[in-house]
Amino acid sequence: MKILAIETSCDDTSVAIMDCDEKNWAIKTLSNVVSSQIAIHTKWGGVVPNLAAREHLKNLIPVLSEALEKSNQTINEIDLIAVTEGPGLIPALLIGTNGAKALAYTKNIALLGVHHVEGHLYANIINNDISQMKFPVLALTVSGGHTQIILMKDHLNYEIIGQTQDDAAGEAFDKVAKMLQLGYPGGPIVSEYAAKFDDAINSLKDSELKEELTCIKFPRPMLASGDFNFSFSGLKTSVLYFIRKIEQKNLSKEILELYKIAICYEFQNAAVDVLAKKMSKATEKLEPKTVIMAGGVSANSTLQNSLKNEISKKYPSINFINPTIKLCGDNAAMIGAAAFVKYQKLKEEGSLKTLKANWKKLEANSNLKLESY
Ligand code: KG4
Ligand code: ZN
Repeated sequence: MKILAIETSCDDTSVAIMDCDEKNWAIKTLSNVVSSQIAIHTKWGGVVPNLAAREHLKNLIPVLSEALEKSNQTINEIDLIAVTEGPGLIPALLIGTNGAKALAYTKNIALLGVHHVEGHLYANIINNDISQMKFPVLALTVSGGHTQIILMKDHLNYEIIGQTQDDAAGEAFDKVAKMLQLGYPGGPIVSEYAAKFDDAINSLKDSELKEELTCIKFPRPMLASGDFNFSFSGLKTSVLYFIRKIEQKNLSKEILELYKIAICYEFQNAAVDVLAKKMSKATEKLEPKTVIMAGGVSANSTLQNSLKNEISKKYPSINFINPTIKLCGDNAAMIGAAAFVKYQKLKEEGSLKTLKANWKKLEANSNLKLESY
């Protein structure tokens, strides 16, 4: 079957065409077009919801047309339309959901809404052997809006084991980048700066400065809390106080740049430390067969390596899966993958018929909760 998927929950307009083998549950991406709005939101230092909606409105049809063209399909070959119904920015979600509803109505195609995090989780099965995802699965979802540890005893079955009490991990990366005036989105820039740390320190002749930069220490919040919750606002505040302290020193541009590298390095280490160690503790307690990552921050190679090492060292029999880089951030292919699994469940129940009437019922919901099926 062919699925046309739409994602507009934040600042990426994306449409994907997926070719799904219903017998073997194999999901292939025929096209996955993502139109990023980074250039538009950069000057505001973050996503402006109404600007995002305006861009989605402008881009949705051209992106849809490009996705169909690249996949060599026409709309008449589509069996199911999938769309992110929430959570996300309501003006942005409304463009995708209404576009999907109009298309489903005019072409009489089945329509399914997908939870955004569910999409991130199922990015792990795209172009991948689904049998690798052995249950129970323990997932770390880390994005700009979410940081959760989720236990999946089966497909579409979610139990939230822990979550952030304040900022999401990606949000903390973005805020640190903003404080350091490094640009938006912060995650990739902070990790690029952090990657320069070793070379910068090794080539430094001033031993006093070297000592100072290597001794920067930020807290690892809630590491010993005994639960699986997170908090990133205290870490962010520590970074802010440190920046304020060094701002008073009137440093040269070159030395300030070295401080920025060292701050990004230690901030990333602190965030990754907490995420990887909490996941390790959750793995010890819940004994999953597979550990997966999901969401934009899962593109961070330090986090990937740290969690992978932690799991392979302590629990060598557990399968560790991470989406490919292109599928870590927001994209429509992941929405199509989750919709495919939902569709199979509905088929088993014999309730596929209801999907054709979904153009009447589906509503964007900015606070949509992740619910088991
Ligand atoms: O999943 P996503 O694309 O959108 C949301 O659902 O929020 O995640 C975006 C978040 C942003 O906060 C971005 O800074 C972060 O993912 N991110 C990263 C990296 N790449 C993206 N954070 C850390 N390291 C990265 N390499
Ligand atoms: Zn996302």
